[in-house]
Amino acid sequence: MFISQEIDDLLSVYSINPFGDKKDKRINLWLDLLDSLPLLQSSAIDLVNEVGVDDHSQDIDQIEGILLQFLPWRKGPFRINQLLVDSEWNSDMKWKRFQSLGIDLAGKSILDVGSGNGYYAFRMLGMGANQVLCLEPNLMHLSQFLAINKLIGPLQIKMIPERLEDSGIKETKFDCIFSMGLLYHQRNPKEHLKILKEFLKPNGQIIIETIVAPEEYDFALEPSDRYASMPNVHFVHSDKGCKAIFDELGLSLVMETESILTNHLEQRKTRWMPFKSFEAALKPDDPSLTIEGYPAPSRKFYLLEISS
Ligand SMILES: C[S@@+](CC[C@H](N)C(=O)[O-])C[C@H]1O[C@@H](n2cnc3c(N)ncnc32)[C@H](O)[C@@H]1O
Repeated sequence: MFISQEIDDLLSVYSINPFGDKKDKRINLWLDLLDSLPLLQSSAIDLVNEVGVDDHSQDIDQIEGILLQFLPWRKGPFRINQLLVDSEWNSDMKWKRFQSLGIDLAGKSILDVGSGNGYYAFRMLGMGANQVLCLEPNLMHLSQFLAINKLIGPLQIKMIPERLEDSGIKETKFDCIFSMGLLYHQRNPKEHLKILKEFLKPNGQIIIETIVAPEEYDFALEPSDRYASMPNVHFVHSDKGCKAIFDELGLSLVMETESILTNHLEQRKTRWMPFKSFEAALKPDDPSLTIEGYPAPSRKFYLLEISS
């Protein structure tokens, strides 16, 4: 059983076609590419220090050619032998900030909301998590997950291509819920956190990672259009704004990291994501400001539990 009977039932829709009934003109191409990826044998997998696999029985040029067709790779990197899928984000940097909180994931059932291509879900397994359910509505991210999951060997990760509010989950509760890089994309961030709380076991933990605005914005910065070139950024809460919502929803703050400015080592254009990246997000003559003139993105983690 994967997490619960309810989750098993929800996953059954994706057992024949991993895209379920979703419509996208790229789906047939992705299915063909996935079919042509070889199954690795006798591989050594490292999910502790990286997401890497060693298996020298396969033609790496062929694998590279296939993976390049899943462009753009936003999260990673993933390593297959000497091939590095060097994504736009060096996601290991965020993962190290999470690990600085010292949270034990061993044996836990995890919900990773807005998981992207599943990079962090693999790292969660590397920390001993039992099973990870990813919710990710972007089908391109799902296609990348399916490719990596096929190469590494199907592990205890499943991805459902739905938004949190449309997931269909009604009864299942998780030990740990991650929402990283999502809060500022929500039209209703309070509702987002409320649903996370509903899906949490009584002694469970919610991990929020988000951009925080300086206190001069009081509770939240509300961009008039884009923020750091990103569309769909509705509210960038300040630390005070985040804590006020947590409090209102009965979520206790257990731990937090300091906030860290994103830099060109963490986000940059690569061969695997050759489009606009960090350099397009900030003012060329003043990197303390976004291209729109807002304070540059600074990110932090919060660890929350249900207040007693
Ligand atoms: C900025 S990315 C963050 C990805 C990853 N969690 C990380 O921290 O790098 C936000 C992701 O959340 C997904 N997303 C946005 N709103 C969502 C929602 N309401 N439910 C589930 N996923 C959502 C988007 O498709 C996108 O892949």
